[in-house]
Amino acid sequence: MQPVPPVPPPMENMGKPDPRYEARSKVTGRARYAADEPVSNPAWAFLVTSAIAKGKVRRFLADEAKGIPGVLAIITHENAPKREKVAFFGDGGYVSTSLVPLQGPDIHHAGQIIGVVLADSYETAREAAHRLRVEYEVAEPVAGFRSPGAQTVELAAVKKSHKDVGVGDIDKGLADAAVTVDAEYFTPTQHHNPIELFSTTAVWNGDELTIYEPSQFVYSLKNCVARQLALPPEKVHVINPYVGGAFGSKGAPTQRTALVAALARQFNRPVKLVVARDQGFFITTYRAETRHRVRLGATPDGKLTAYGHEGWELTSMVDNYDVAGTENTAEMYASPNVWTKVNLVKADRNTPGFMRSPPEVPYMYALECAMDELAVALNMDPVELRRINDTMKSPINGAAYTSRSLMKCYDEAAAQFGWSRRDPRPGSMRDGEWLVGWGCATATYPTNMMPSAARVRLGGDGSARVQVAAHDVGTGAYTVIGQATAEFLGIPADKVVVELGDSRLPPGPVAGGSMTTASACSAVKVACDRIRERLGGSVPADPKALAGMFEKLKVGSLEEYAEWAPPGGEKGLAALHEGRMGGGSAERGGGTPKPAMFAFGAEFVEVRIHSRTKEIRVPRITGAFAGGRILNPRTARSQYLGGMIWGIGSALHEATEIDEKRARYVNANIAEYLIPVNADVPLVEIIMVPEVDTQVNPIGVKGIGELSNVGTAAAIANAVYHATGKRIRDLPIRPESLV
Ligand code: MOS
Repeated sequence: MQPVPPVPPPMENMGKPDPRYEARSKVTGRARYAADEPVSNPAWAFLVTSAIAKGKVRRFLADEAKGIPGVLAIITHENAPKREKVAFFGDGGYVSTSLVPLQGPDIHHAGQIIGVVLADSYETAREAAHRLRVEYEVAEPVAGFRSPGAQTVELAAVKKSHKDVGVGDIDKGLADAAVTVDAEYFTPTQHHNPIELFSTTAVWNGDELTIYEPSQFVYSLKNCVARQLALPPEKVHVINPYVGGAFGSKGAPTQRTALVAALARQFNRPVKLVVARDQGFFITTYRAETRHRVRLGATPDGKLTAYGHEGWELTSMVDNYDVAGTENTAEMYASPNVWTKVNLVKADRNTPGFMRSPPEVPYMYALECAMDELAVALNMDPVELRRINDTMKSPINGAAYTSRSLMKCYDEAAAQFGWSRRDPRPGSMRDGEWLVGWGCATATYPTNMMPSAARVRLGGDGSARVQVAAHDVGTGAYTVIGQATAEFLGIPADKVVVELGDSRLPPGPVAGGSMTTASACSAVKVACDRIRERLGGSVPADPKALAGMFEKLKVGSLEEYAEWAPPGGEKGLAALHEGRMGGGSAERGGGTPKPAMFAFGAEFVEVRIHSRTKEIRVPRITGAFAGGRILNPRTARSQYLGGMIWGIGSALHEATEIDEKRARYVNANIAEYLIPVNADVPLVEIIMVPEVDTQVNPIGVKGIGELSNVGTAAAIANAVYHATGKRIRDLPIRPESLV
């Protein structure tokens, strides 16, 4: 097979592989990230965080810290102003945790913010924070699933909008089966570590507040801080044109923003906070550890008769964050009997949250490993097992898929990978001292959408500007929104200026749920269509003709503001301007009786495991994906690459280790929090399977940003089984798992 080229030539229903819109500004250092923003005479803040996970602050010993020259103030619960409590985003509010810091002496998790030092320099603030001594009253914390005192609650009991999906009778389905699988899987705590640290810079100008902060949702941050500080939302302005990685960690506002903004007001000076890498593990969110019991039953020829999936997910004592991936896994394969249940396990931890493909990564890991186990039990090729159980309608509610190219993805990836040469017997494909294993798994991601607005202006010179408060978190949003504007207007892409990441722009979607392109570009299309209508249907390519039309219309430019909502999502238009994340503001691709909208993929991996040292290598990985219209195959490929590389990390490297006695993360740094490096990733091949979907939205786009890291961990675990005959169900799989 030929290697797949890095800049894929566009195929059917794909745009041009234009280079990144902001590439030059990023590589030349002109792109200004939030903490780079120069503000005059800032006070520097450094957080003081709790050394214990549960108990109380008895007292602070602050004399030494206060004595350091340049220290302006030490703020703790003893002298902090009281602040408005805003609800957790999952309860219809905004924040990633409802726990407001500095309101009292109680400690609810390790690393909780218990103080802020303000000083004339970053170094002084940090020094003073380290010299502030704290006396605690220590209580015994609950660290996780295995801790005594961990409480399990049914998600449906604590979250009204959650319904455990199912159909038919699972017991009957299992009784009818000729072959069954019943297995438990575990995924660990994981922390996204974007290169750009968490930071907040707050500047007041009279009664107006400007915030510079990396954010996946500037409208949410603006409205959240307005609530917390009891300000009219129009007085708050969030600016964040570039984000140095986010992956969910910069989605829901954290408590630090209002804290910093309030200090800036109190001290009448801009305040800048850059959160240290280790503190980021505790003051923002993370991927919760999960446990799964999956039961599958099948006829001798491989038809599923039953699929049961029970999940347990860790959350904090204060908030009920739920991962809840069963809504999507339940729609994956044709099975007449499906039963699911999600449970939360409450612990003395910070509240978890989104991390790339939040529900799908852990839940599909469990399902796709179980499918492999079923294929082994049936003595059937795992690709054929997927084919036999492929479906064009939702097994839960019967709704048809708008498009589903799962098996096309399997066939193309299998051909590229050379799957037909696989000897299915475990341990049979040895190469000298190395055991070779080949495995595969399905990737899926729902086509989520949110209402969006956009403003487009066409100048008489044929140039255009598009504005939307959407975000480019490294995904290529600038590029594809520019390309879409050019396409809808019928002008060259290099004539378009794109403005994103500013709360004064028309409201856009959260850069989450892989919904930026589908949502924002649908609004852009409405605005562009109106502009073309005003010009009689098209923008003339001849500059003279265009100038003549503008003269006739007596305008210097044509500008249109448009709002768009996905079908059924019109109610979300009201929430659009409030920047709401939960509470039905987004339309999900699956779940309710309406067309099922999902992108799909198939991933194949080779692992090599040294027979004596158990060193695990992934020399190659091939993925094929179908996500409707691809606006830019270059940026799309980059998304797919990143996702699969992350999947390698998820399978083999990543875990936040927890001190079970102290409920504290012990590897809260990127030296000991293992991620794949270049040497771990020799060959990643991406195939983009052309797919036309005329139903999902007016532009035929599905979300792909989170698709490709779904299934990777399962494909690797399945390959490890094939290499060794050992089924490792707990992630990550490390050499010690195989000894
Ligand atoms: Mo992404 S984890 O949906 O921000």
